[in-house]
Amino acid sequence: MKHDIKDPKLKALGKKRIEWAAEDMPVLKQVNEKFGKNKPLKGLRMSACLHVTAETANLVRALKAGGADVVLCASNPLSTQDDVAAALTLEYGIPVFAIKGEDNDTYYKHMHAALAHSPHITMDDGADLVSTIHTEYVNLIPQIIGSMEETTTGVIRLKAMEKDGALKLPVIAVNDAATKNLFDNRYGTGQSTIDGIIRATDTLLAGKNVVTVGYGWCGKGFAMRAKGMGANVIVCEIDPVKAIEAVMDGFRVMEMGEAAKIGDIFCTLTGNIHVLRAEHFKKMKDCAIVCNSGHFNVEIDIPGLKKAAKSVRKEVRNFVDEYILPNGNRIHLLADGRLINLAAAEGHPACVMDMSFATQALASEFCVEKRGELKNQVYYVPAEIENHVATFKLKSMGISIDKLTAEQKKYLASWQEGT
Ligand code: ADE
Repeated sequence: MKHDIKDPKLKALGKKRIEWAAEDMPVLKQVNEKFGKNKPLKGLRMSACLHVTAETANLVRALKAGGADVVLCASNPLSTQDDVAAALTLEYGIPVFAIKGEDNDTYYKHMHAALAHSPHITMDDGADLVSTIHTEYVNLIPQIIGSMEETTTGVIRLKAMEKDGALKLPVIAVNDAATKNLFDNRYGTGQSTIDGIIRATDTLLAGKNVVTVGYGWCGKGFAMRAKGMGANVIVCEIDPVKAIEAVMDGFRVMEMGEAAKIGDIFCTLTGNIHVLRAEHFKKMKDCAIVCNSGHFNVEIDIPGLKKAAKSVRKEVRNFVDEYILPNGNRIHLLADGRLINLAAAEGHPACVMDMSFATQALASEFCVEKRGELKNQVYYVPAEIENHVATFKLKSMGISIDKLTAEQKKYLASWQEGT
């Protein structure tokens, strides 16, 4: 299979959207130009398993400019932008294997096609590629220089592999870079999740009880933006420190058993399984909206919801399935529990993906520079890359910041001076 896309006729539209996004990705543009001159990825094959969006298109274009022979498959069956897939394949010569709404078999068929490319470097969003390499493509492991991981869920999986001694290649946890999670996870998820909920339902947030399940960076961003739209935000957490943080940020914190009775809109952003389940659905109000913005579609127990419901009306509106419970209450499940921000909206805006993807590109250059030196473990992104990305982002915004004076540098380096 050379590529697999929905419709070649979509390529012109996809090209326009890729170019539009590129305008808001100045740091990645600068990396692209540098890569074009230095070719740090020359002669290397790369397989990327990422959400196929206009922003991702600009990342893989930068990798190609750096000399890599790149192919791309989707990291989620519902997040692909088919026009972007067509343009990447047919306009930019980067083969894509992804069709929005593909079933599980096709999703894995596409991943196998990306791995048939025999990569030296991989890029993952959720660790499906790396985990498939470890189970079905062990022959590739000796040639793999390293893999980049884009998301919290993926890093959790990879750290579990490392702890078990199962990780057989070096990984860079791009997600854990401050230039990624402080901005993409917080401001990106905050805005795009609200966008997805509104596009799917056209609901008004003002005055609604919005239940944020999980108060990591994604949950914080979502809660902050829901509050800004006038919602009464309730936070559910299992981590006591994060729970206090939510309280002091001004939110009500309670157990899901209580929140389930009063919530109008529920959004899961935990990275964990079945945080909303039958015992909660049974308590929910009529027409409660339930959605997920965590990586996998496991946060809402959908089999449990199906079992608890007496009937289902599919697609009462695009991206909305209505589950009717024996007590007559209806639950509106969005996007089949998949990432609502990518399924019903367009994912995070380009401006914020700029930082994440510039970090991704520079992390892959770092892997090549350190070829043979990296151990089979999960590495943080080097501080120089983070500083480079942040400095360029500020510059592109026309913002300049203060520098330490010689006296201040000396003061910070000394321990003798006290009161
Ligand atoms: N993850 C969240 N938003 C995204 C986007 N716009 N592109 C790629 N990955 C994403």
